[in-house]
Amino acid sequence: MTALNPDFWQNHFEQNHTPWDRGATSPQLMSWLETQMLQTCRVGIPGCGQGWEVATLAARGFQVVGIDYTAAAVKIAREKLSSQGLNAEIIQADVLEYQPQTPFDAVYEQTCLCALSPDCWLRYASQLQRWIRPGGALYLVFMQIERAGARKGLVQGPPFHCDINAMHALFNSTYWTWPEENPVKIDHPQGWSELAIRLRRKPDPVSSLET
Ligand SMILES: C[S@@+](CC[C@H](N)C(=O)[O-])C[C@H]1O[C@@H](n2cnc3c(N)ncnc32)[C@H](O)[C@@H]1O
Repeated sequence: MTALNPDFWQNHFEQNHTPWDRGATSPQLMSWLETQMLQTCRVGIPGCGQGWEVATLAARGFQVVGIDYTAAAVKIAREKLSSQGLNAEIIQADVLEYQPQTPFDAVYEQTCLCALSPDCWLRYASQLQRWIRPGGALYLVFMQIERAGARKGLVQGPPFHCDINAMHALFNSTYWTWPEENPVKIDHPQGWSELAIRLRRKPDPVSSLET
């Protein structure tokens, strides 16, 4: 499997080969903003890439922290903010290690999960659960890119297919409340599609030792 590290992503940015990038803010984020399902708050954006969503939220008064471990992405995102006179923090860090000083009210996850090896998914899901305060929200856009090789047992990506059954296992009911409605399907310019859903972070379960 491809070694996934900052060099891998750096090469993509340097060669201007960023097929995941819409060149604009995701229409799903715009929809969540327009319907007020996402309101001004402190929000984290893991794997923020070139920072389209960071800039859009910063322009609307959100307190935004973008996290990305690739130098080129961080540079482009910071330049984007500065050219628009916007204020947001872009932190160069591994999402599997980073811990915010203050928990986020919300996290917007778009194509970071599918960029991580599935081997790291449990750790990443634990990170998101730690990052968000109880009662906060996780806005997820799951990449749908089924691979023929999966039927032969091959793990192929990135982007890795975010199968909805696996997503329920990863973001399970111990920590997350799923809404009644089905996820919304959105198209991606590359011919891929995504499933969007907002989960609510439950309070931490009370340990059976605490009475
Ligand atoms: C597929 S791109 C998505 C970028 C952006 N979210 C978008 O939709 O345009 C994945 C991004 O995640 C970053 N990334 C991948 N693994 C990471 C990790 N472990 N820690 C921090 N950033 C990571 C990459 O540098 C890249 O910018």
